Amino acid sequence: TKPCAGFVKLSGLLLATLFSWYLGYFLSALVSEEVLSASITNLQDIGKKPVIRAPAPKRQKCDHWSPCAPGSYAYRVLSGGGKEKLAKICFEDELLISEAKGNVGRGINIAIVNYTSNQLCIAFTDHSAEMVAFIENAPQGSLLFMVTHDDGSTRLKNDAKQVVEKLGSKEIKNMKFRSSWAFVAAKGFKLPDNIQKEKINHSDKNNRYGGWPAEIQIEGCIPRNLI
Ligand SMILES: *[C@@H]1O[C@H](CO)[C@@H](O)[C@H](O)[C@H]1NC(C)=O
Ligand SMILES: *[C@@H]1O[C@H](CO)[C@@H](O)[C@H](O)[C@H]1NC(C)=O
Repeated sequence: TKPCAGFVKLSGLLLATLFSWYLGYFLSALVSEEVLSASITNLQDIGKKPVIRAPAPKRQKCDHWSPCAPGSYAYRVLSGGGKEKLAKICFEDELLISEAKGNVGRGINIAIVNYTSNQLCIAFTDHSAEMVAFIENAPQGSLLFMVTHDDGSTRLKNDAKQVVEKLGSKEIKNMKFRSSWAFVAAKGFKLPDNIQKEKINHSDKNNRYGGWPAEIQIEGCIPRNLI
């Protein structure tokens, strides 16, 4: 079976909504505080109730603190934490893998996105030989997001490590029992050097989860013009 047979396309509606948030952000940024307070004074002067309310805090795609530049994709990959917090993979504000979607599994979770069309491809959760086939079958021009929940090391074999290393991972060979690990890679093109691509944190019996993994994350913006 083809790994990308079940593509789901981001709907135009969703994109339009995201775009209008973005526009709202810029419009409100254009109205400086001086203009705001000046217009409040004016309104008070003519004896009318000011109608201007403080703008609601802007929520950015994938809960970033600041928005990605136009012409780039937002991503955030968050590993599981403790026993309760499940891993998440967010891309363009879509949760590809999450507890709510019910597709997080113990081990290494992988999501593949068609970089050109922004089509989302499957979630996969296992760490056996299937993982090698899954990664090798990912088409050229894909983004691959990977993240651990609970333990991703025990069933991780050398061939799988090599495949992930070939995608640019420097940490896959350092995975230990219940290490947290988050990784993004591109197949068939190169990601910029200056974006977050990989993090690992080894479990520690003295951590706040008593030896369960501590959550780690990578996030950033991927330009859309790399191919
Ligand atoms: C990815 O999307 C592009 C543009 O829509 C399309 O031409 C290409 O066939 C897609 N790749 C796969 C593997 O579906
Ligand atoms: C790993 O997590 C612990 C907290 O659980 C933290 O103190 C430590 O700095 C983290 N290490 C890295 C490399 O992020």
